[in-house]
Amino acid sequence: MKRLFILFFAMYSLSVFAWEGKVTITTPNTQLLIHATEGGDLRMDYYGPRVCTDQELRDAGCALNSSALPAFGTVDMVQLPAIQIQHADGDLNLELRVKDMEIKDENDSRTYVFTMEDKLQPVSVKVFYKAYRNVDIIETWTEIYNGEKRSVTLKRYDSGHLVIRQGDVWISHLHGDWAAEAEPTMEKLSSGVKTISNTDGARNSHLDAPEVMLSLDGIPQENSGDVIGAALCWSGNFELRVNTLLKKEHHFYAGINPQASEYVLDPKQTFATPRLALTYSTEGMGGVSRTFHRWARTCGMLHRGMNTGDILLNSWEGLYFDINEERMIQMMDDIASFGGELFVMDDGWFGNKYPRRNDSSSLGDWVVDARKLPGGIKALTDAARQRGIKFGIWIEPEAVNTKSELFEKHPEWALQAKGRQLKLGRGGTQLVLDMTNPKVQDFVFNVVDELLTLYPEIAYIKWDANASIQNYGSTYMPADKQSNIYVDYHLGLLKVLERVRAKYPDIVIQDCASGGGRANYGLLPYFDEFWASDNTDALQRVYIQWGTSYFFPANAMACHINHCPYGNTGGRIIPIKFRCDVAMSGRLGIELQPKDMTEEERQQCTRCIADYKQLRNIVQNGELYRLISPYERKGVSALMYNHSGKAALFVYKVENFYNQSIPRIRLAGLNPDATYTLTEKNVRVGQRPCSLNGKRFSGRFLMEVGIEVPLREDYASRVFELDS
Ligand code: GLA
Repeated sequence: MKRLFILFFAMYSLSVFAWEGKVTITTPNTQLLIHATEGGDLRMDYYGPRVCTDQELRDAGCALNSSALPAFGTVDMVQLPAIQIQHADGDLNLELRVKDMEIKDENDSRTYVFTMEDKLQPVSVKVFYKAYRNVDIIETWTEIYNGEKRSVTLKRYDSGHLVIRQGDVWISHLHGDWAAEAEPTMEKLSSGVKTISNTDGARNSHLDAPEVMLSLDGIPQENSGDVIGAALCWSGNFELRVNTLLKKEHHFYAGINPQASEYVLDPKQTFATPRLALTYSTEGMGGVSRTFHRWARTCGMLHRGMNTGDILLNSWEGLYFDINEERMIQMMDDIASFGGELFVMDDGWFGNKYPRRNDSSSLGDWVVDARKLPGGIKALTDAARQRGIKFGIWIEPEAVNTKSELFEKHPEWALQAKGRQLKLGRGGTQLVLDMTNPKVQDFVFNVVDELLTLYPEIAYIKWDANASIQNYGSTYMPADKQSNIYVDYHLGLLKVLERVRAKYPDIVIQDCASGGGRANYGLLPYFDEFWASDNTDALQRVYIQWGTSYFFPANAMACHINHCPYGNTGGRIIPIKFRCDVAMSGRLGIELQPKDMTEEERQQCTRCIADYKQLRNIVQNGELYRLISPYERKGVSALMYNHSGKAALFVYKVENFYNQSIPRIRLAGLNPDATYTLTEKNVRVGQRPCSLNGKRFSGRFLMEVGIEVPLREDYASRVFELDS
């Protein structure tokens, strides 16, 4: 006899009816089939296109019938566990049985909650699947409840697990380093376990990022093939694993990295794992990217990502720490004269007893350095208003330098290993504050709150994080909970961000961590954008922005025009037109000292900003089609965005050899029957638009035949608007 389950409709509707142990979880184009057997665990049968019934799957012998959340102690022990708990009495086993299922309906989604209980111990685990109605994303996560009389230890607590039919499956993820983030790395899965993980503690996307794509039918293709995309929404250490078994399955697991993080959970407490966002596309990696971008713009990012980011000048690469009032005002004059909308004062503005002259002091002392800024921040917000632009400011509130008044007063607020010498980070003095400590959380909240209370005209904050957790230990956490630090650090950070957003829902905040160290969906619900890299060399940015776009939309990606010669790439000199065109493909900004620009550079930047205003909505809210990858070594890279019958096309010459054959650019995602007019944008100062300007083509022609884009000299580039 089939066990009957009670199902509740909560939120908008509440009803009770029988569940026969099978559930089809759907998004517009995908479905996940789950079932539970009498007294058994939760089983996953299928994740893929929305094309089949449960019966068809079974009749065809295709139901995978694999544990949805493999628990240590329950099933086939050759599978790696997604969850393992040590109970108060030392028992390491879990035998989870489904008890009931609940459905929660919201406007944009339906969430299925399966509650499972251990056969022996009073521990329960809820598994959530939140399926969106308008975008093909299913978020999954768990909640673990400790009903025991004493603490239990979560030894492994993945957010989710997927079972995939074995085949020619490839895994792609973003790999990199500081100033070289987000290089797509692709490899075929072979027997054994493939692990992608991070142990920085505070940031998690410099080296290996917490997102992957799994191409199910051979070498990853941009525009074709079945691909699963997965993003762990967490800013701390993570571990993504694929276990390829000799049988017929790959098992994909994603969650918090348990290394040094066996989590002690007190009695009657619940631990919620971070969300794992999953998608399935039959349109290759491009399809997965577009789904993540759509999801980010509807719910994965703050402000639903629908704000079109302001065009800004940031003082960092133009002045580094050498700021003062006069230079700030000069920079405001310049960005206003270019047609920009926002000026951001970066590092170097604070410190009283220890003025911030370089990176070796003052973090923690968030008071204006009156020697540099005699009129304080008020004089700067006034100056910005007078020039018709907004004002933004840099902070790094989770950090402290040993040379600071804060450290003198509260040395115990820094993370530190008891009795051991401090390991010092940036500037030889930097430490990370202990975000597990509620007093530190209050301090960090107050850094933001005081700034915004004193200077309500601040419209933008750049929130940086420039150190990893090198000193593992907390003076606040008890001895038996030291292994909770990595996790509680981020839960503490999220608490602060919740408070900041509750009080300041509208201020724009950039998420930065030594460049692109915190590009992740754990933080984006609280931020408007992230700094993609400390490397602003336009050629390398073509590559970095290409990789970043695999998971993140253009309006999340801050892209700034830099100065040349450029130090990070050995003094490389790139023409201003190419630098502008590369920055225009994301959220446009400038990062240089305008005083040092040539007249041609000034004119080009002014033109670029005016033209970007016309393209901004298409770029920041459009559907991305990556056309030619810079990694394919074809001499060019091309991408485009489509939005409401318009498109923006970017073409960059990334190599230049005599007699080199440059591919024709075939466009994508257009309406084949519409006629598009091409208008060249940001035409090089002193030149005329190219021969394609003003020409009209059908969408079908542009997609099937393509255009020959004139690109002759080194660093040639073109930007076009297409209007139908
Ligand atoms: C980090 C950021 C930079 C800049 C500096 C300031 O490196 O990524 O953009 O803000 O800090 O110290």
